[in-house]
Amino acid sequence: MNATRKVYVETYGCQMNLADSEVVQSVMHAAGYGRADSLAEADVIFVNTCAIRENAEARIYGRLGDFKHLKKENPGVIVGVLGCMAERLRMDLMETESHVDLVVGPDEYRRLPGLVDRAFEGEKGIAVRLSRVENYDDILPLRTEGISAWVSVMRGCDKFCTFCVVPFTRGRERSRSLAGVVREVEDLTQKGFREVTLLGQNVNSYNDGGHDFADLLAAVAQVDRSLRVRFTTSHPQDMSDKLIDTIAAHENLCKYVHLPVQSGSDRILELMNRTYTVDHYRKLVERIMTRIPGVSLSTDIIAGFPSETDDDHAATMALMREITYDGAFTFAYSPRENTKAWDMPDSVPNEVKLRRLNEIIDVQREISFRKNQSEIGRVVEVLVEGESKRSAADYCGRTDTNKMVVFPRNGEAPGQVARVAIRRANAATLFGETIGAH
Ligand code: SAH
Ligand code: SF4
Ligand code: F3S
Repeated sequence: MNATRKVYVETYGCQMNLADSEVVQSVMHAAGYGRADSLAEADVIFVNTCAIRENAEARIYGRLGDFKHLKKENPGVIVGVLGCMAERLRMDLMETESHVDLVVGPDEYRRLPGLVDRAFEGEKGIAVRLSRVENYDDILPLRTEGISAWVSVMRGCDKFCTFCVVPFTRGRERSRSLAGVVREVEDLTQKGFREVTLLGQNVNSYNDGGHDFADLLAAVAQVDRSLRVRFTTSHPQDMSDKLIDTIAAHENLCKYVHLPVQSGSDRILELMNRTYTVDHYRKLVERIMTRIPGVSLSTDIIAGFPSETDDDHAATMALMREITYDGAFTFAYSPRENTKAWDMPDSVPNEVKLRRLNEIIDVQREISFRKNQSEIGRVVEVLVEGESKRSAADYCGRTDTNKMVVFPRNGEAPGQVARVAIRRANAATLFGETIGAH
């Protein structure tokens, strides 16, 4: 008799991939597979991959090299490459990485058990069809217990920003049903989760038979008034006033909006096909800030897009200073095959890209530091996540506005909301002492 075979999933890339890995575990669980807690006890290893930038893929190739050794020692192990890189590279991946048994794209996870069964019989498998309808609405993701959960509400992207591979690796935009999302959130609250983040590449175009994203947020907020609800990502072109007002109206909808601007230059935004201007973006931010007092904002920025000049770059830094983001995710432009920008000359030399990237990082660090200093003396509510990375004597957690807070443990428990008086701060973290918890 075979003991239950166990699956280990290693996840790279964005939160959508983290959520998908839970769908994968759920599909495998339903087919009789167990979950492996470490590589050592795995019969099946899945690598859920990201293709967003070249260095993301390089890292995964490195990891596949490790699995090659592992497979020499233990030839019975099945190695499967899932996710965006599987979708992008398909057969090439199987050919260049001979120890890979399976290549399966993001819309084909229902087929995994069958493919794995055949792989154990020595048959390699590839499944990379993209779907117009697959949204795994009826699959309850298999989660380990926790405080915070990711919930995919839509898949794919139709925006076709010219730098971005996602529309090619994830296919067309499609939404889950509002009722399905609400059911999943109800289940999460019953399991003790205290926070959910609703996920989509562009949640603002969520649409379920006339229900828009604001309707979905309101419905999820009503499931449990003590559940914190976050969402990401908002595209600046589609963020409606109704959505802004909905965030303002519900206490448990977090006052935090991730609103990627990518560049502060209209010429570059147009080349990127972002479909908004800096002026549109600025007015949107003004509306958000006026209607949601105390809101915190973060962004994504790309340095060194094709033809970006020093003036374009300066415009980006000026916009950052004007908006004063609470956080920024910053990237050097990486050309991706099949995208429109792939055909534009990658004209900004690497060292210039990196210099601009570093300047952007410095500007943000300065802004974050200054903003965090202004939190000193305030009392904030922190959802306690667990021990801080640095010390077991400290707990850490986030404010509603997504700021990381560290404080000495004082009898509270993870999952509770602690009231913390902020005493000092750096650019990344606030530090303080609890004055109560509930
Ligand atoms: N859907 C989200 C972004 C998903 S990708 C949105 O539209 O905001 C996350 C970020 O990666 C993007 O916002 C962009 O800043 C960055 N990114 C995407 N493709 C890139 C590329 N080819 N080179 C560098 N950065 C890229
Ligand atoms: Fe990529 Fe643009 Fe879609 Fe975001 S909105 S996933 S950047 S194509
Ligand atoms: Fe990467 Fe795919 Fe997410 S390319 S960023 S894992 S959608």
